[in-house]
Amino acid sequence: MSSKKTCTVLKIEKLSDDTSSFEFKIDQGIFESVEPGAHLDVYLENDLIKQYSLWNWSEDHKRVSVAVKREDDGAGGSKAMHQLKEGQKVELDGPRNHFKLIPNAPHYTLVAGGIGVTPIFSMVNALQKHGASFDVYYLVQNRKLAAFAAHLDALNLGDNYHLHTDEESGYINFKQLLNESPKDSLIYACGPEPMLNALMKANQEQAKEHELHYEKFSASSDKQELESTSFQVKINSTGVIYEISADDSILGVLTDDGIDIPSACTSGVCGTCITDVLEGDIDHRDEILSDEEKTSNEYMCVCVSRAKSGMIVLDL
Ligand code: FES
Repeated sequence: MSSKKTCTVLKIEKLSDDTSSFEFKIDQGIFESVEPGAHLDVYLENDLIKQYSLWNWSEDHKRVSVAVKREDDGAGGSKAMHQLKEGQKVELDGPRNHFKLIPNAPHYTLVAGGIGVTPIFSMVNALQKHGASFDVYYLVQNRKLAAFAAHLDALNLGDNYHLHTDEESGYINFKQLLNESPKDSLIYACGPEPMLNALMKANQEQAKEHELHYEKFSASSDKQELESTSFQVKINSTGVIYEISADDSILGVLTDDGIDIPSACTSGVCGTCITDVLEGDIDHRDEILSDEEKTSNEYMCVCVSRAKSGMIVLDL
């Protein structure tokens, strides 16, 4: 459900040449569900809605901070963010969390690649406050790009903090990193797709795989190339059946017909459009639902996921 709120850009702080932090203050009330791993939708110019992970917030949950790396060849969201000015009003939705820290693990191994450090930083803060056992690996090309190095240094994590630069040490050896993680460690990772793929592959090659939780910035390139076929969607409350052609998405067809389904990323990475499913065999193509949630066949991201065949009945 949409929970858009009007906020003020309270403070913009440059963290490195290409990355700035944006602190937002809610105009009325508080931000609910502020927790490590959560992200916000930011409504920007040209109808762009972008998702950014919280890296910090005030104790009264009236202020939250995200950090954004400027991508000059991206879709424009990061450029629009970097054009915001202090004092400006902006609409935010969320936070929502599909990257939750599971409590009470014997050890956590946190791996952050580049700007993927933002949710990981919020996890580090929480784990440190709770006295949990953890290691954090911050992977960057070089020290100049380590936008959160000063913040991580300030936490005095000692040997539990590992800053790895490709320029000084070459690509990180994930097999070694995983080998060195204590037995039963939970692994949390956020970063670019090649980094996450390499980490997942190294984990699968371990004698005993660690439980790995990750968050991607964008849809996997292999999922974007999947072939699609047509199928039907039935709306349970009305009985109306829609044909979804190979080129259409469920979200597109239903919203075109006036059915209100909240959405933001439209690429399976934010979770805003998750819809309950009553019947049907789902072809999950999102990056949000866990394996257990996918296997349950009870929900789907209607922006990207489809039916394996036949008909899907949605609880709408
Ligand atoms: S709109 Fe973001 S997952 Fe569907």
